[in-house]
Amino acid sequence: MPLSVGVVGCGAFGKHFIELIRDHPEVERMALCDLDPDKLAECSSKYEISECYNSLDDLLKTDLQAVMIFTQPWLHAPQAIEAMEAGKHAYTAVPIIMLPSGDEMLDWCDRVVETASRTGQLYMMGETTCYRAESIFCRRKAAAGEFGHFCYAEGHYFHDIEHNLKNVAMWRWGKDWDDSKRGGIPMHYPTHSTGGIIDITGAHMTQVSAMGYEMPNEDWHLPGGRYDNVYGNMVGLYRMSNGMVVRIAEMRRIGTPGLETFRLYGTAGAFERNFNGSIWLTLNGQEEVDLTEVSDPLPDALAANKGGHGGSHAYLVHEFVTACIEERQPLVNAWQAARFVAPGVMAYKSIQRDGELLDVPDWGDAPE
Ligand SMILES: NC(=O)c1ccc[n+]([C@@H]2O[C@H](COP(=O)([O-])OP(=O)(O)OC[C@H]3O[C@@H](n4cnc5c(N)ncnc54)[C@H](O)[C@@H]3O)[C@@H](O)[C@H]2O)c1
Repeated sequence: MPLSVGVVGCGAFGKHFIELIRDHPEVERMALCDLDPDKLAECSSKYEISECYNSLDDLLKTDLQAVMIFTQPWLHAPQAIEAMEAGKHAYTAVPIIMLPSGDEMLDWCDRVVETASRTGQLYMMGETTCYRAESIFCRRKAAAGEFGHFCYAEGHYFHDIEHNLKNVAMWRWGKDWDDSKRGGIPMHYPTHSTGGIIDITGAHMTQVSAMGYEMPNEDWHLPGGRYDNVYGNMVGLYRMSNGMVVRIAEMRRIGTPGLETFRLYGTAGAFERNFNGSIWLTLNGQEEVDLTEVSDPLPDALAANKGGHGGSHAYLVHEFVTACIEERQPLVNAWQAARFVAPGVMAYKSIQRDGELLDVPDWGDAPE
């Protein structure tokens, strides 16, 4: 049975998904929603979608079956919960939520898992890393047992704050922007560095000890204000549920081009990716991996133009649409999404306690 989908948030990121959702062969009806009438009108006209709403509340009163939320990251969890309570399946862009308070973030993880569990509605977090070609490649190697036992991994998100992130922060607040909202807590947005490793290994973080780096003459991550954090880079060392050790680096002060990826090592084989390419290694040597040759099946309309973030957008849409239709948990369901977010929250708590080893909470596996 085909699906009806509402998109909430036609901003810088959300608008890139509209065409993919509209053209998915299993989507029979689509609506758009944004508080900003100009953005709504622009997307409605450009993508020829006439069903439009000015507020999430109005959209939730309709009989649309599923809602894909691309609003500001501090709004995701409450909006996803509202949608599930209204009988809709819910998708949010990453993360589940991003707030200054780690305790509040963990509480929202709890509430999203509880709501998905109680209502039976599906929640999916749209982690782009899980659908990049390196993840597809490593999932296949893992399924074939070619890593052996996973023993070590490094996940990193390199995105210097000077690479447009200051502007992103300002436009997401719009007219509510003021200087007290500058800064951020890199480990409170950790899903690009944690997600791939957790997904591919099937393990989750159980403990963390972390440290922060404060740049000399820092002018963005400053004491006071909304975030009250001076560390532009945060690095955590984790113990995983399968015994492996993982290093996660969330870097906002690093003089490199952007990179969100991982290196994954097993007792029989390993995958490494850096700025120059990707390699598969074993005790017998190494081979270059051409990631442009790696893909999973997609409907024709989406395969032709997979969208941004390493072509992940099309897979995200396809996974959510098919999970709703098949009434199965998506790959990054509420339980798994909490496993992507909580390790970052606990890393920042460890940094605040001078690297103290802390337990990472876990909500268990999604029900079958
Ligand atoms: N690689 C990735 O996964 C990736 C990359 C970029 C952005 N993102 C995520 O995408 C999300 C959106 O980012 P963006 O840059 O597009 O932000 P944006 O500020 O450009 O867009 C957000 C839009 O949501 C709308 N909105 C807010 N509340 C609403 C409501 N109640 N009802 C209807 N519309 C509402 C706003 O008017 C705005 O147009 C963020 O959470 C961000 O974290 C993820």
